Amino acid sequence: MTETLDIKITKTAHSRLNETDFNNLPFGKVFSDHMLVADYADGEWKNFEILPYGPIQMSPAISALHYGQAFFEGIKAYKHDDGTVSIFRPDKNAIRFNKSAERLCMPTLPEEVFIQSIAALVDIDRDWVPAKADHAMYIRPFMFATDPYLGVTPSATYKFIVLVSPVGPYFSKPLRVKIETHYTRAAEGGMGYAKAAGNYGASMLPGRKATEEGFDQLIWTDAKEHKYVEEMGAANAMFVLDGTLITAETKDTILDGVTRDTVIALAKDWDIPVEERKVSVEELVEGAKSGKLTDAFGAGTAATIAPVGSFCVDGTEYFLSDPATREFSQKVFTTLNAIKYGTAPDPHGWNYIV
Ligand code: PLP
Ligand code: COI
Repeated sequence: MTETLDIKITKTAHSRLNETDFNNLPFGKVFSDHMLVADYADGEWKNFEILPYGPIQMSPAISALHYGQAFFEGIKAYKHDDGTVSIFRPDKNAIRFNKSAERLCMPTLPEEVFIQSIAALVDIDRDWVPAKADHAMYIRPFMFATDPYLGVTPSATYKFIVLVSPVGPYFSKPLRVKIETHYTRAAEGGMGYAKAAGNYGASMLPGRKATEEGFDQLIWTDAKEHKYVEEMGAANAMFVLDGTLITAETKDTILDGVTRDTVIALAKDWDIPVEERKVSVEELVEGAKSGKLTDAFGAGTAATIAPVGSFCVDGTEYFLSDPATREFSQKVFTTLNAIKYGTAPDPHGWNYIV
């Protein structure tokens, strides 16, 4: 255990809590009273500070804006009936945070410092954690390069910031998904496994085209042949085919999702066979036709367990069973919620109590 992180705290003089409508929390639009900010300079992290949420001043020349040295994480905190607040598996995000940092040639943050930073902010704004089913406090840690320099070289200075945002569900209905066979999200040797801001920037045009065609999400396919499914825009793609949970193996094109890992752990607890392997579009089509594809869903922190209602391949749409009747994803959703909201035991020790 490292020593306690030294954080300077300046509380807001005017809390916005009572002005916030907790019955209307569109994802990512409402921010709590405070944020955490830290600086990297002279080879070390310093100036950890919690201060009122608000604009920050920066040079327009910072390299994050020009060359995309920027990445983020997504985590959630939950309120239990007795008022306890827990953060779900922040240790996994701390590890992935550093993988992203290394890929983008940015400084890492000791895992304990990452966890203590978010826990301190959640603690100060704990009254902002919604006490409501399917609601949570979304935690957004991120890092970006701050050298005001237009040369293409890794920055020597960075900012680490954490925001927290009370949220409701990210998706409100079963997803109509397009299997993308033209655009590519990530290629081998690229940075698909990092939560790089640029990965999301590159997904906007294909995403918008899909939305204009009436779809809710894309499932990306491999860059070489567009034959194998990889992941969704904001979640890992998981399927139950012939009684086996299948999902693409994580490699350098796919984000190693915390929710994905959690679903796999639950399936193993329940003795359900799990295969992490290449999943072809063709076998999904065959499975949809034969009825052997009994479940399909996105798994992600914001998305939670988001059922796929139908998927479309090169203009042909395949409809799956009513999500309410799906045994596996319903059980995962219910079990996971019970653990996160503290109404069931937490045998894997996933809840970090604040
Ligand atoms: N894949 C992508 C591209 C994502 O943006 C996300 C969301 O974080 C995930 C997968 C799921 O990861 P996690 O379960 O860690 O949130
Ligand atoms: C998350 O689930 O944390 C994500 O990153 C999805 C997001 C891009 C909204």
